[in-house]
Amino acid sequence: MLNREHMPVSSQDEGEQQLYIEDLKNRIYGKGLKYHIVTYGCQMNVHDSEKLAGMLSEIGYTETGRQQDADLILFNTCCVRENAELRVYGNVGALKSYKQANPNRIIGICGCMMQQSEVADYIRQTFPFVDLIFGTHNLHRFPQLLLQALDSNHTVVEILDSEGAVVEHVPTKRTQGVSAWVTIMYGCNNFCSYCIVPHVRGRERSRRPADILAEIQKLAEAGYKEITLLGQNVNSYGKDMDEQYLFHNLLRDINEIEGIQRIRFMTSHPKDLSDDLIRAMAECKKVCKHLHLPVQAGSDRILHAMNRKYSSKYYLDLVEKVRKAMPDIALSTDIIVGFPGENEEDFEATLRIAKKVRYDSAFTFLYSPRKGTPAAKRRDQVPAEQKKQRLARLNELINGICMEKNQEHLGKIKEVLVEGPSKNRKDVLTGRTDTNKIVNFKGSPELIGSLIMVRITEAHSWSLEGEIVKND
Ligand code: SAH
Ligand code: SF4
Ligand code: F3S
Repeated sequence: MLNREHMPVSSQDEGEQQLYIEDLKNRIYGKGLKYHIVTYGCQMNVHDSEKLAGMLSEIGYTETGRQQDADLILFNTCCVRENAELRVYGNVGALKSYKQANPNRIIGICGCMMQQSEVADYIRQTFPFVDLIFGTHNLHRFPQLLLQALDSNHTVVEILDSEGAVVEHVPTKRTQGVSAWVTIMYGCNNFCSYCIVPHVRGRERSRRPADILAEIQKLAEAGYKEITLLGQNVNSYGKDMDEQYLFHNLLRDINEIEGIQRIRFMTSHPKDLSDDLIRAMAECKKVCKHLHLPVQAGSDRILHAMNRKYSSKYYLDLVEKVRKAMPDIALSTDIIVGFPGENEEDFEATLRIAKKVRYDSAFTFLYSPRKGTPAAKRRDQVPAEQKKQRLARLNELINGICMEKNQEHLGKIKEVLVEGPSKNRKDVLTGRTDTNKIVNFKGSPELIGSLIMVRITEAHSWSLEGEIVKND
């Protein structure tokens, strides 16, 4: 068993990694090996899986959609809420029979859940057939670790305690079609009292502007039309660097890259949404007029206990400022119900703020106690049944508002970036408006990747239906 705690990650790792990739390449050459990655959690995790897939492709593995056909099965895990973890435990247990059927098959588990040492220990002890366990800070060392796992009879474990420097140039196999994800910063410094993310993703580290711009330039040359910038709190981009170069500067520079037609980003912490950023969003034509601005709760008492560092008034004033600068902007949010100590009055304040803002869409969650976070230690946990009832009431309100907001689009003509065929409807394409509304419409697959005009004919709570009016 390996443990590389406290060893700093250096740029040397970038070159080293290529050597291991070459080694593995020779080793598996001509064997026709296949991989299958299962990803849980947020877009940053999905993008991490694109990097794992990139390294595997470079080594010579090909992808398979069927677990039972894979020579390497990798679970990239999430621990933001308990149900995410429970799903992983259930699904890892089910891999035992695959390992028995083919003992040469490699089973690996990585990601945020493994960054909690007690969880990694539990996995190792409960599922001894797992070959490889690693965390979030050493994703780029995957080739080295895979090589060790191939040669070892016992589980190879490597979890780093500290995050180290950002490692650039990890091969990436993108799965997004016309749209590409670009992580601009890692980690989070906010320590919201319910949240495990800072504990498993480390402190904020911004990528160098030149690295980000060069990556996006290449993506534009490869034909990508849309870029989504990722970070747990993109609004604090650059604050950890010496250069006076912040998120609004980055947006303005990306806006100049030829070929890129749309720029999206997430997530924005309300406390860090600056006037400079609002101005840049309003002025940059390519920056989509959609803002994901998690409110989490409407009661000031609860917001304070959550360590969100803003009040409901501050949030509402911010929304007003954003809408004044961009009247048609779509707003989405995250809301947690049943935070410890939340009473009926607090919950009603959440309903009130949702009604006042009138979100275009919202992700709503039951509070889930996470070991090691301050909120989990509180004695005044809200009973499960009450949490569920509140969530149902909130969802009913949100669904109604989203439906009304979508109905406002009926009969209007919107520009849609065509993303691909609809998942379950034949001859139907799907795409998004600038404001992040999903639009389904009939059309031929050649349109994928282009911006077209669509008349909205039908509205649902979470999507729109339309018909093409003009091809650009
Ligand atoms: N950095 C982003 C996203 C964090 S995780 C942000 O700050 O918005 C995505 C969402 O999960 C959070 O916005 C929050 O609403 C929810 N979440 C995080 N921890 C949670 C917990 N312990 N229980 C329930 N929901 C949680
Ligand atoms: Fe978690 Fe808060 Fe950081 Fe978001 S800002 S990742 S909710 S600690
Ligand atoms: Fe989950 Fe990790 Fe993302 S905990 S939400 S996968 S940062």
